[in-house]
Amino acid sequence: MRTGLRRLQTSIGYSVTTAMPGLKGPEVEARGRNAWWKLRVLVLILAGLSLSAASAADRSLVPSMFRPESTPAQSISQLSLFTLAITGAIFAVVFGLIAYAAIRFRRRANDDGREPAQVYGSNPVEAAWTILPLLIVVVLALATARVIQEVQNAPRPTSALDVQVVGHQWWWEIRYPKLGILTANELHVPVSNPRNRAPTFIELRSADVAHSFWVPRLAGKTDLIPNRVNHMWLEPTRPGLFVGQCAEYCGTQHAKMLLRVYAHTPEDFERWVKDQQAIGASDPAVAAGRLVFERTACINCHSLNGTVGNGRFGPDLSHLMSRETLGSGALKNSPENLQAWIKSPNQFKPGVLMPAMNLSSTELEQLVAYLTTLK
Ligand code: CUA
Repeated sequence: MRTGLRRLQTSIGYSVTTAMPGLKGPEVEARGRNAWWKLRVLVLILAGLSLSAASAADRSLVPSMFRPESTPAQSISQLSLFTLAITGAIFAVVFGLIAYAAIRFRRRANDDGREPAQVYGSNPVEAAWTILPLLIVVVLALATARVIQEVQNAPRPTSALDVQVVGHQWWWEIRYPKLGILTANELHVPVSNPRNRAPTFIELRSADVAHSFWVPRLAGKTDLIPNRVNHMWLEPTRPGLFVGQCAEYCGTQHAKMLLRVYAHTPEDFERWVKDQQAIGASDPAVAAGRLVFERTACINCHSLNGTVGNGRFGPDLSHLMSRETLGSGALKNSPENLQAWIKSPNQFKPGVLMPAMNLSSTELEQLVAYLTTLK
């Protein structure tokens, strides 16, 4: 065991000192021991970091494509595991051979310095390393083409839900054309089961630059491209929240263009639809706040059911408080956060296109009191 470790350290020593031919055996060994220790410390630090990262995150919310919960994501995940297995085997063979050759034929203190015998032009060997990779590439290409075909040409059942998503800098506009619902950033869909399928078919557009819709546990990425309509679908198989994000750099706040997909049981989805279809609340107790909304530049960018506001640059606010987040996932939706956000959106999302409205503190309080009634 001890001698094995020393030999390993010595060979590390040779590999870190190949550019210094003047070094003697003991010096090489010392350098090897030094590099060996650095390597161990580095591995320990990396292991500690990954452990602490793994324990901090809520596992059900980790957007991992290796834990699919929806039909297209499942086929994609199977394909990536298949590809990973093949490329992993290639890696193991190639790396194994390189490691074997590097250790078995490493430079030794008593080398005679002559070149080993060179082998050229073996037809069987050349045929093998041409044909084998070709076959592997063909197999991977066919498997990929099959999954792409399966996902893109999936027949659309009549029970499917239609949704339109429009990418904006830096938020998602979400429309349900047949249900008359307009919302933002949080997509609600029903769960699907084999006997009663309810997939969601999505039309993707962009209002400005290219974005990409990606909820890893539900489906692959699909870009939202100006002047073009793209299509995708998802079909979650259990209720829950699935997080995602814009996956195409689209400007300063690309990182805070987060997505949340809520999958509901059919009954819960029905209820959500009813709530969203209701006309925006107009409680007389908060009429002053409503006036603030209608008399400031808010209405140029935001639409709000039952008011004069019909702007399209910003998210619809008709059922603002039914959403869990503000600023496309930038912060949690609460009356305090809403007030702070309206006062200065830039502090939460630098570069955001919503300006600070410079309202007086009374107006701001009235406005927030009104907005928080929009359930
Ligand atoms: Cu939108 Cu990145």
